[in-house]
Amino acid sequence: MFRTEGSELVKGSMLALTIESILDLAGERSGKFRMIECEVSSHDAYGTPRDLFLAFFSMIQATLRELAGADWTADIDGAWKRLQADVRDRVSQSDT
Ligand code: HEM
Repeated sequence: MFRTEGSELVKGSMLALTIESILDLAGERSGKFRMIECEVSSHDAYGTPRDLFLAFFSMIQATLRELAGADWTADIDGAWKRLQADVRDRVSQSDT
């Protein structure tokens, strides 16, 4: 799905911006979190199914959980569940 040239840079940028929007959504909500809804439209145009778009957030969570190991607490788990539900609502309510 990614362009042939420069796609590694695009993937890196995509991950960095997704993490920034997650931190903003979980924190002060200054506005960066709005990128999630904006990217739903551009990803519809790229041909990325919405389920796959959502799966990206789950992969980030799973990776952090793996890295945290025993430091992953029930509080952290609960906070991520709330965040994922919020992201799901935003993505499913977005128009094309
Ligand atoms: C598995 C899920 C996803 C897939 C398959 C996907 C796919 C893509 C594709 C095909 C592009 C265009 C690449 C190009 O021009 O070659 C792209 C760019 C981008 N995606 Fe995603 N995407 C996913 C999830 C997300 C999520 C969840 C976000 C953020 C909420 C996001 C943010 C972006 C941004 C910001 C760009 C542009 C990056 C840049 O050019 O600097 N993507 N994505």
